[in-house]
Amino acid sequence: MKSSVWHPNTQMREWSSFDTITKGKGIWLIDEKGNKIIDAVGSMWCNVWGHSNPQLIKAITKQSKQIQHSSLFNLTNEPVEKLAKNLIKISPGMNKVFYSDNGSSAMEIAIKMALQYWKNIGETKKTQIATIENGYHGDTFGAMSVGYVPEFFGKFKKQLFSTIQFPVPNEYRLPKGFTLSDYQNHCLEKIEKRFSKNNDIAAFIMESGAQMAGGVIIYPKDFQKKISELCKKYNILFVLDEIATGFGRLGSMVQYQDQKSIPDIVAYGKMLTGGYLTMAATLANKKIYDSFSGDFNDWKHLFHGHTYTGNPIAAAVANENLQMYEKHNLIKKVQKTSKIFEKYYQEILDIDIVGDVRHKGMLMGIELVSNKNRKTPIRTKKSINKVFFEEGKKQGIYLRTLGNIVMLVPPLSIQENELELLLKKTIKTIQVAKSKTF
Ligand SMILES: Cc1ncc(COP(=O)(O)O)c(C=O)c1O
Repeated sequence: MKSSVWHPNTQMREWSSFDTITKGKGIWLIDEKGNKIIDAVGSMWCNVWGHSNPQLIKAITKQSKQIQHSSLFNLTNEPVEKLAKNLIKISPGMNKVFYSDNGSSAMEIAIKMALQYWKNIGETKKTQIATIENGYHGDTFGAMSVGYVPEFFGKFKKQLFSTIQFPVPNEYRLPKGFTLSDYQNHCLEKIEKRFSKNNDIAAFIMESGAQMAGGVIIYPKDFQKKISELCKKYNILFVLDEIATGFGRLGSMVQYQDQKSIPDIVAYGKMLTGGYLTMAATLANKKIYDSFSGDFNDWKHLFHGHTYTGNPIAAAVANENLQMYEKHNLIKKVQKTSKIFEKYYQEILDIDIVGDVRHKGMLMGIELVSNKNRKTPIRTKKSINKVFFEEGKKQGIYLRTLGNIVMLVPPLSIQENELELLLKKTIKTIQVAKSKTF
């Protein structure tokens, strides 16, 4: 239909109308005409149990009959208290939970906590933030500053605060003459050299386990761990963004445990409510939290709070979601089901416009190139996203690309046969879309 909505990233003329989704069932999205497409992007990477899950709906219904929203300013409510306990239990090292309603805000809060921590303890020189190139942490100004991707945010460059950026090892696009391990060491040396030069860095902020929007760049073993060790050595706060990569997406509940790198602050979002309601959380360790407590006139507290901070319905569905992770042993299931990706790996790589395939847990990135040897990113007559969306739809799959990467981020609980179907449809789509490239 012609839409009165200003859609994210799709205002170009090529998007003159939009299909209307009216229902969802499991991995399937169903439009007003009854057409079914597999949700290969898990509704922007947040869906856990598929659509219309009865237990999650029940949790929402039950809580909405009790209290629909009550502020966390001066008050608390049962679902958020229970959720905070649950989150602290699964997050080693963390002590308190600050709620917000989207991932970008959770990262703004993380940035504010990290910067103010040093002020609170009387350290005024630590004002810089270090990050890695190509990271993504959301679309608000602080999040854009720490996750600067030139193509996304170039138009606001002047308004963003500056950060210290370090390169990230991407095995597919290593600089000439480097092996992966050489380049990883080179990146870590650069970080250590800068850390040791000046005592001005407040925090190092990175996505945990992999960069998602930056192109599915899965960190080599020990990269994150070594950065966390450098942060400790040079007294720099280590802040992790697990909004897209935590909660099972990369095959572990808490990715930083897998990476052996305990942060001072961590942010969760997306899958926290199973993908049903909007909620995010920023967790901090005791050292951070304690620095914010004092007398009123000390002004050490954190000035931050959104209208819907700690919404009880969102918290109730998040609690149910977490309980279901345990009951159904979801992480083990993700680890097992995700092996299906490997079965199709070579077949995808053999397609002549596929340069690289990267996979971890319930995530796959397929990098499209026009020349395999030169690794030239592919170009299409329309946007790549539009081409893949249209061709995908014909195959019965909802696909969204980021740059020249086809992202597969299905609901975490997808069954093995469903994942096989999704991969077969993706392969077909790439083969057909090939003719639309130049
Ligand atoms: C790693 C990461 N951090 C933060 C965000 C921002 O989350 P939200 O879109 O909920 O604001 C995203 C969103 O894709 C993300 O992938």
